Amino acid sequence: QELKGEVRFERVSFFHSDHPVLHNVSFHAQPGQTIGLLGETGAGKTSLLHLIPRLYEKHSGEIYLDDNPIEVFDTKSLRKQISLVPQDVHLFSGSVRSNIAWGKENAKMSEVVEAAKQAQIHSFIKTLPDGYDTVLGQKGVTFSGGQKQRLSIARALVRKPKILILDDSTSALDAYTEMKLLNSLKTQQCTVFIVAQKISSLKEANQILLLHQGKLIAQGSHEELLNESPYYREVFQS
Ligand code: GTP
Ligand code: MG
Repeated sequence: QELKGEVRFERVSFFHSDHPVLHNVSFHAQPGQTIGLLGETGAGKTSLLHLIPRLYEKHSGEIYLDDNPIEVFDTKSLRKQISLVPQDVHLFSGSVRSNIAWGKENAKMSEVVEAAKQAQIHSFIKTLPDGYDTVLGQKGVTFSGGQKQRLSIARALVRKPKILILDDSTSALDAYTEMKLLNSLKTQQCTVFIVAQKISSLKEANQILLLHQGKLIAQGSHEELLNESPYYREVFQS
């Protein structure tokens, strides 16, 4: 089934081998929105995001994608339409092009370039000795942490996902590059979930979900949370 990109959690709870990780989490993301996730290490951000492409299965509550319970979707079709950029980047020693097209080997060159542009990595690739044919690790070509992150974001975008999950995938980017990336994603018809440590990257989000020990303790826009959540103010000012 084709996804539109709407995601709704209703009192979702989740355990990792008997250890409670998420309790009664509810939120509603509209197609095309940017949803920021904030919370201390171990708060449950990655666990929550892994429920969306059914990498994990919730234990109670309900998850709806476009008004359908998540169980009606087979995982293969979900993972085609939901791209998750994991916390730890995996590149291999092939060309830049094949690293971006990984998992979508039939991608056209124009699609690879388009994804790289959206991910703000195209102009760097153009400076490499063989451009998109440059092989990672050869001719002394090395990538910085932020360049690797943008390459893996390009890999996610080449699949033209309806839902894009960036799990701390922009931590090595400077605030300006990250803002350009987020702005370019807004022009895609795609719902974006982003875990970010930098508050600056969450300011533009339609909603911010603030997780604390597996509970959603506040949700709203940056301005709303500044007004309503002492915890958010504390994080923002630190
Ligand atoms: P950071 O990525 O460090 O910012 O944390 P997070 O907010 O993404 O938390 P995450 O969802 O990874 O973890 C939430 C809780 O689940 C923590 O208490 C973890 O110890 C626990 N947890 C995460 N992965 C596993 C797992 O594979 N097995 C078990 N048993 N527990 C896990
Ligand atoms: Mg995590």
